[in-house]
Parts: sequence; structure tokens; C-alpha cells
Amino acid sequence: MWNEQDWRALAEHARRCRQRPIAALIAAEPERNAAFARRLGPLYCNFARQHVDAEALADMQQRLKDSGIQAQVRALFDGVRINRSEDRAVLHTALRSDLGSSPEARAAHAAAQAALETIDGLVIRLKVQGITDILSVGIGGSDLGPRLVLNALTEFGNGGFNVHFLSSADGMYLDRYMGALNPEKTAVLLVSKSFGTQETLINGAALKAWVGDSERVFAITANGKRAAAFDVPPHNILPIWDWVGGRFSVWSAVAFPVVLGLGKPVFREFLRGAASMDAHFLEAPIEDNLVHWQALMSVWNRNAMGYGTQGIIPYDERLELLPAHLQQVIMESLGKSVTIDGADCMQATSPVLMGASGNPSQHSFFQYLQQGIGTVPLDILGVVQSGHCQPTNHHFILANLLAQAESLANGQPSDDPQRRYPGNRPSTVMLLDELSPYALGMLLALYEHSVFVQSQIWGINAFDQWGVELGKNIATGLMPFVEGEQTDLSDIDPVTRELLGVMRRS
Ligand code: F6P
Repeated sequence: MWNEQDWRALAEHARRCRQRPIAALIAAEPERNAAFARRLGPLYCNFARQHVDAEALADMQQRLKDSGIQAQVRALFDGVRINRSEDRAVLHTALRSDLGSSPEARAAHAAAQAALETIDGLVIRLKVQGITDILSVGIGGSDLGPRLVLNALTEFGNGGFNVHFLSSADGMYLDRYMGALNPEKTAVLLVSKSFGTQETLINGAALKAWVGDSERVFAITANGKRAAAFDVPPHNILPIWDWVGGRFSVWSAVAFPVVLGLGKPVFREFLRGAASMDAHFLEAPIEDNLVHWQALMSVWNRNAMGYGTQGIIPYDERLELLPAHLQQVIMESLGKSVTIDGADCMQATSPVLMGASGNPSQHSFFQYLQQGIGTVPLDILGVVQSGHCQPTNHHFILANLLAQAESLANGQPSDDPQRRYPGNRPSTVMLLDELSPYALGMLLALYEHSVFVQSQIWGINAFDQWGVELGKNIATGLMPFVEGEQTDLSDIDPVTRELLGVMRRS
């Protein structure tokens, strides 16, 4: 965790950097493009348009080293119980790489491999049963990651099943699926680490009755007992474990829908890409480590420059779900205001993460990014080889990516204030050679690890999420009132009481 001296030094650097706009920094540092860019395999990242100079960067890297980050990274991979508020290890890395040196980490890796093998048998059974459609029911980390991967990599494989996702408890989508799919040819996957998430259980109960045969209901869960009590046959239960956080679980059997939609080879490549980022994170020196670069830029923007929002803008429609996935990874992990020891945080933590695919966004919220009062640093992602057959379209997309990053940084003066572009708006440009399963695995692992490093700098626990519980508990208590089973509203919060009344009268 960084101390007061570290934060004072950062503030000093920020005072100096603010005196020179980004364009001037670039002009003053002729080597900046080389010095501020790194490549790992198919992923190239250029940080030259961040509003930070070489002196500040070098000092932050030194401070990160001095704070003991390398030992903290080792503890993560070795399965030390760093999720203290839940007394759990954090071993999502063991789902894709075998870099942990402890018996716990090795056992976790072996268990993950065994679960992957089990999937093969289930795929064959589903084919024999004549299943055509898969309805994957889950929410948060049990939905966003697999949904993103399947959507992003559609062209890379065909697992032989049409896969659909149901997340919200809103009954409209449930109705639509039950109207569109054939219950005799559909298998329902209930994806829930806890198997206690009400959205998944409510949808699951309706779908279990709809398919009418529990042989076609599957569970992916760390709580096999609850799944069995829900009548899921034991041979239809795939394990995950308490050492995998929901938002870090896309590497586990939670991605069963990905295997069914795209086939196992695609999923294995995806894991291999993440494993290469794991090795890089563990082994590369801080100055060359993409994860540390990414994390330090985030901390710089949040704490030195004071930006409260961060944008993720992929210039590739296949990555349109990336911002939603990263919202959970970043905001559920880093949206904390007390340290791991329970003290108030010395510094601001998670920014608000926003984003959407770049080209359509230019015609909606980019006005704000270019001329709005607030500055939103961006991660702008592009894919060099398009993977499709429309070169003109692709060149147009790439030209727009380049133009937006340039105009945000450099701006444009004008005598007419309405037509003036202030510029000095930072971005990192990340280019993938192609959007392969391997490259996507690397990219997602990069953000996961960056979140870990930021959490260590701020001294917070990135792996719990107590903030989600209060609302869930109140909702459970309110259910009987909404359903009309309870009518005595005297102990209810006065505004909630009024709103319940409006609902009843409507
Ligand atoms: O309520 C938040 C949360 O616990 C997330 O952390 C998690 O990804 C999601 O709900 C779903 O949880 P589960 O997989 O246990 O259903």
C-alpha cells in the first residue's frame, strides 16, 4: 500500500505535468513513442498520450517496486488467502496457468483441468440427447464474461449449439425465450457460484418446469448441495470453487456456454492467451510489464490528475460487451472506501467506468468527451486485421480510431468558442494484431491483473463485494409486501411505503 510520502510525490509530479499539455510533452520527449509503448505478442499498447512525463513515470515504477508489489503478485499466484474478509485464496490464475508454487495452487490447477475434461462428456451427452439450443442463466460474473467471449469470437469456431443468455429476473426475456425455443430441444444451464442468487433461481425454477425434464438442467456452481436440492442431477453439476471470484470466473466451467457455442479448441486458445499474460505479469520487469503500465496509468489518472471517470472504447463491434464486463471487473473490485484493515482509504479508488463500441459512440457521447467540462481518460482499443471481407469499412474504422485519439489529445484552436476543441484529453491506444481467442484471453487477463495491482497500491481488497448485499437483503424483506401477502406497512421506510402504495394503486 502506498504511503503519504508516495502520494505527496505523485501530487508534486502532477503539478509539474499540468503545466505542459499532452502535445507539449510529446514534442519535448522525442523518444516518447518508443519509451511509452510496449508489445506482448499480438497486443501493442501506446501510452504516449497519457498526461504524464518520463520523470513521473519512472518514479511511480520505482515506488511500485519499493512497495513490495512483486511479493504480492507471487502471493496471488501461490494462493495465499489474500481475500481476507472472506478468508479465501484468489486463484483464478490456476484456471489457465500452472505458475503457482504452493501445493494449494497446484491442486487448484489440477482440479480446473479435471473439470475441463468433464465438459467433454457433457457435450457428447447433449448431442446424443438431440439438444439444439442452450439457455445459459446467470448474472454478473456468471454471465458477462461468457457472453462477451462468445460474442467476440463467433467466427472462430462452432460447437454445434445455439447459445442464448438470460440474466435479469425481468420476466419479459424469460417469456420471449420460452416463446421462441423448443423445450424438448433446449438445455438450461444454471450458472451460479453461490447457487443462492435470486435472479438465477427465479428464472431457473420457471425454466426447470418449462423443459419438464431435469436431465436437461445443468448447474455450474461451487455449491453442489444447493444445486442438488434444486433437483439438478449430480452428473449434471460442474464444479467451480470458492477461490474463483465470480467476475474472474470466465476461465472456469462458467464458460461452458462458450465451449458449447464455439468448441473446446477456441476455449483452450483463450486460456493459453491468458496464461501468457500471467507469465508476463509474474516475470517481466516493472518497466516492461504491460500490467504495471496499465495499473500505474489508471492510478495516475485517478489520483494525480483527479479524473473520476474512465472510458473503455473498443473500435470493433465484436468487443461491444467489453465495457460491461470490465465495469464489473473494475468497479466491483475497486469500488471500496476502506482499506483491507478497515481504515478509511487515503485516496480515491475506482473511477466510474463507462464505455461502448467506438464508431457508434462518436455519434452519441463523444461530444462530451471532446468538449464537455470533465476529462475522461480513455482506453481506445483497435484490431489491425479485421477478420472480415470489407476492407473499406475496416480502413474507415481504423482512421476514426486514430482521428479520435489524436483530436482528443491535440484539440484545435478557434476564434469561435463553439468550434474550439480544448484537447489535452488523455488516452491509451491498444492494438491487437487480430481478435483471436488467444489475444482476447491476454486482454482480459491484463485488465484483471491491473485491477489487482491498483488494489495493492490503494491497500484495498479487490476480491470481496460486500456492497452488493444490503440491497439484496432489503429486496428479500420487501417481497411479501410487493406480492401483497403482507399489508402492515407501519415499519417500512416512509418513502418506500409511499412507492409501494403507488404500485398497489396502479
Ligand atoms: O451480487 C454480486 C454477485 O455476487 C457477483 O459478484 C457475482 O458475479 C454475481 O452476483 C452472481 O453470483 P453467483 O454466481 O453466485 O450467482
